[in-house]
Amino acid sequence: MTSHEFLDLLIRWVHLIAGIMWIGNSMLFNWLDRNLEKVAGREKEVGYEGKLWMVHSGGFYEVEKRQLAPGELPANLHWFKWQNFTTWASGISLLIVVYYLNGGAYLIDPAVRALGLPQAITISVLCLATAWVVYHSLWRLLGDAAPKVAGLLSVAALLGSSFALTQLFSGRAAYLHVGVLLGTVMTGNVWFVIVPSQRMLVAATQSGQEQDYALNQRAKQRSIHNNYMTFPLLFIMLSNHFPGTYSHPLNWLVLFVVMFGGAGIRHFMNVRYSVRSTAAWLWPMVGIAVVTTALLFGLTARPGVAATPQLPPVQFADVHQIIRTRCVACHSAQPSEPMFPVAPTGVMFDSPEQILILAPRIKERAVVTRTMPFINKTGMADEERALIGRWVDEGARGP
Ligand code: HEC
Repeated sequence: MTSHEFLDLLIRWVHLIAGIMWIGNSMLFNWLDRNLEKVAGREKEVGYEGKLWMVHSGGFYEVEKRQLAPGELPANLHWFKWQNFTTWASGISLLIVVYYLNGGAYLIDPAVRALGLPQAITISVLCLATAWVVYHSLWRLLGDAAPKVAGLLSVAALLGSSFALTQLFSGRAAYLHVGVLLGTVMTGNVWFVIVPSQRMLVAATQSGQEQDYALNQRAKQRSIHNNYMTFPLLFIMLSNHFPGTYSHPLNWLVLFVVMFGGAGIRHFMNVRYSVRSTAAWLWPMVGIAVVTTALLFGLTARPGVAATPQLPPVQFADVHQIIRTRCVACHSAQPSEPMFPVAPTGVMFDSPEQILILAPRIKERAVVTRTMPFINKTGMADEERALIGRWVDEGARGP
């Protein structure tokens, strides 16, 4: 492994673990909030929200949600904030390692826009910082008085920046940037709104003062935003394994569908406990899931190559020659391309056997999604793609 690849692996591992802990916690607390049961006789108690019982890992858990009276603050109070910070910090490190280093190989696609590396990194950093400042200012200005307007403007800004990113960076990097943007806004919400409000709550309890209700409400608002962002964000984190999404000519539209679908499904999971009947949340949720899946499938489906029986079958020797000139620079035990000193994802085309076994992936990447050769660095021609496609369709015959 090169040190670059090793760093990538290590940070990715940390990022995944921290992300599971953070999102998992946040989902558990959401679930707790919605499942609290009223306790007879305590309805009138100020700040009493209810309790519930759970069974897990060999015992019963009794959880109660209430405000504490002055002086009642326990010595040991657990906070949940470092999971979020670790996820964000490792995410940003990963952004640097994968997208900024290595000559910006994954960041810049000359077919989208021929940016220089310093220029591309500047855009990336500015975009992430501006996103937080714009979002935060918007909600500070309008969050109390006109939350609907702030909501609409935020969604419009998110869609606008997602579209703009697909016009600036490689598809894969554009998607990832939308993810980092969402993650940064979520982290900003935690550290600049939610945690300060919790600190105030603790301080007020300690000193026996009235809690600032508006502050709590604002924290709740931001926490709901974070909740809606989780599903789209998780999709984006997976998208780099699926070139059919990010390399789509309308990749921004695919992303919009996923963002609306993911947030919509989350919405009906949230209202689940506050609506009267199961039908009132289940069917709308299933409806959104079906429409999103159908749109996603319909949009990303590509027509198969039509059979052309009048042509003589493609010879393996011709395919081999194309792969030697267009792919082996990177996909070899000894790559000649300095950008990738080790064959990417371990895929090598040095022998006919290696080519044959990967025929379906070769078609997927070089013909269907046209995401290989990487940023078409080796200048593969359309006729060559068509020939390879036909060879696979004819059964990918060997030499
Ligand atoms: C300039 C370097 C480069 C060239 C040339 C190149 N690739 Fe790749 N290839 C990559 C990189 C980087 C990855 C890993 C990132 C990714 O999957 O997008 C990769 C991954 C792959 C994968 C594995 C991932 C999967 O989806 O299964 C296949 C298959 C592949 N390339 C096929 C090809 C084919 C076929 C060609 C020639 C037509 C080719 N590549 C040319 C850099 C290159």
